[in-house]
Parts: sequence; C-alpha cells; structure tokens
Amino acid sequence: MSSGSRQQTDAQPPPVRKQVTVTRLAEMKDAGEPIVMVTAYDFPSAQVAEDVGVDIVLVGDSAANCVLGYDSTVPVGMEEMTMLASAVRRGLKTPLLVGDLPFGSYESSNELAIASAQAMVKQAGCDAVKLEGGGASVDRARAIIGAGIPVMGHVGLTPQTATALGGMKAQGRTAEKAIKVAEDAIALDRAGCFSIVIEAVPQAVSEMIADRLNAPTIGIGAGNSTAGQVLVLHDLTGINTGHVAKFVKRYSDVRSEMKRGLAAYAEEVRSGAFPGPEHVYSVEPSELDELRRRLNPEDIESSYSWDWEPLP
Ligand code: KIV
Repeated sequence: MSSGSRQQTDAQPPPVRKQVTVTRLAEMKDAGEPIVMVTAYDFPSAQVAEDVGVDIVLVGDSAANCVLGYDSTVPVGMEEMTMLASAVRRGLKTPLLVGDLPFGSYESSNELAIASAQAMVKQAGCDAVKLEGGGASVDRARAIIGAGIPVMGHVGLTPQTATALGGMKAQGRTAEKAIKVAEDAIALDRAGCFSIVIEAVPQAVSEMIADRLNAPTIGIGAGNSTAGQVLVLHDLTGINTGHVAKFVKRYSDVRSEMKRGLAAYAEEVRSGAFPGPEHVYSVEPSELDELRRRLNPEDIESSYSWDWEPLP
C-alpha cells in the first residue's frame, strides 16, 4: 500500500466539537479545564475563533476602541453593538457567544436592561449578555436572568465607569477596595450569573474571590487562579497600536503584516507591476474584432432614449 493510500485509509475525520453551553462551562470549571475566551467584532475574526476552538467569544464594548475609533467604551451604542454581534454570529457555530451590553443600555431600569438583552439575543443571535459592575447591576442581572437570558458579570476594573474608579488602573489593591470587588462578585454570583469576569485585580485577591464563587471566573489581568482567561483579540494579535495594559501578551504582529502587504500592493500599483498577466481575464480575438466593429459611442447613445450630455 502506498503511503498516499495509507494516509487516506487512516485519515480520521476532524473531531466534532460540541456546542459550548453555560452548563459545559460549569463542568469545565469543576474539571479544572481552563476556559478560553476572546473578543471578536467581525465575521472573519469569528471564523478564526471557531477554527481555533475557543470556548467563549465576547463581542465586547471594547469594539468602541478597537474597531470604531472611539477613545473609550462609553460612546458605543446598542445599534452598533448588535450590528457587530450579528456579523460575529454568522462566523460562529460552537463557542458560546456573549454580547456586551453597552454603557447606557441597562443601568437605569430592569425594563431597559431586559429590552437590551433581548435585542442582543433576538436581533444579533447572542447566547448570553455581559454587564459591568455590582450595585444596581446586580438587580439588572437578576432581572435579565429572570427573563431567560444568561448573564456574565464583570467586576474589578469596569471600563464603562473607569472615571469613577480613578481611571483605567488596577483595582482591589487595598483590603477595603478588594472587599468591594468581592462583594460585587459574590452578589452577581448569588444573582445567578453563569460566569464572572474579573479585570485588573491582583492575583492573590482574585484567587480569594474566585474561591468564594460558584460561577466560573474569567480573568483579564487577574492572574491564573481564575477558571479561564480572556484577552481582547486586537491586543493579543497585535492589530492595535500604542500602549497596552500590563496584562496583555502579544502573540502575533498582525498590524506589521498588514502594513507589509498593503505597502507592497501600493508599490506594485505605482510601478505598474500589478496587475500581472496572471490576474487578468482573456477574451477570444474574434470577439475583440467584433467588439471593435460595434463599439461606436454614437450608436450606443442613440439606442438609449434619454438625452445624453455632450462629452466635454
Ligand atoms: O469589552 C471587552 O472587551 C471586555 C473584556 C475585556 C472582558 O469587557
């Protein structure tokens, strides 16, 4: 048997990945199986997340900075978020899709929170939503869960209210401040959140908090004691420029690669090297002769009924 046919006979079909559900995430936590979460804001990134087999994809309101060019997450609205989340939905099958509720879409009442969460599920096809903070957000989370939509909480550094927290900086670095983060996390856990993101909190503090929760915790800048990790796609792949937080690890340099490709294209257009013969369509010479005979602008003009502007 040739090695070619042996390969064919022995080839295994790719393993069928099971749909990630909130129940599956709880099982992963119990089994000590790390949960991989990443953000995505468009169809091709969602396809990559699907191919790689991540567990949770978050259409984060970090889209505001990463793809919409705002300088914080505050200005992004529901219309923008549902449009981005719908595109991500079309690229995903197996990961759990979580839509971030943007600033102003849930804080003021349970009714508003439920309506916004329903839009994320109904219009955009999300499986769950995420909201930030404790306090009134705990009531909002409980109301949304009561309406049948799973909720992910988010404590520690909550970018939507970063100004009130003293800026985009680590939280819970004193016992008093850490207690506040823990209270928020415990309240969200008891309200029934299926998972809680802990952002920019010392590892030792996040470990103590995670130990006291039923829900799997997902850390970002919270060390490695959480049940899973999340990073912003544009930070980890190097699409973003400029300053990144201490907790970001760059795994690739996509922006340099995009620049290299785009600069090479511009260079070839300017030098005439692109398009080359391999990029153009051919036509039979007899058809070209026929075209030459018939391509008479005056005949074409007279075959249309409207008044033609004379060419300058
Ligand atoms: O919007 C976002 O990207 C987030 C993650 C950082 C958790 O909230």
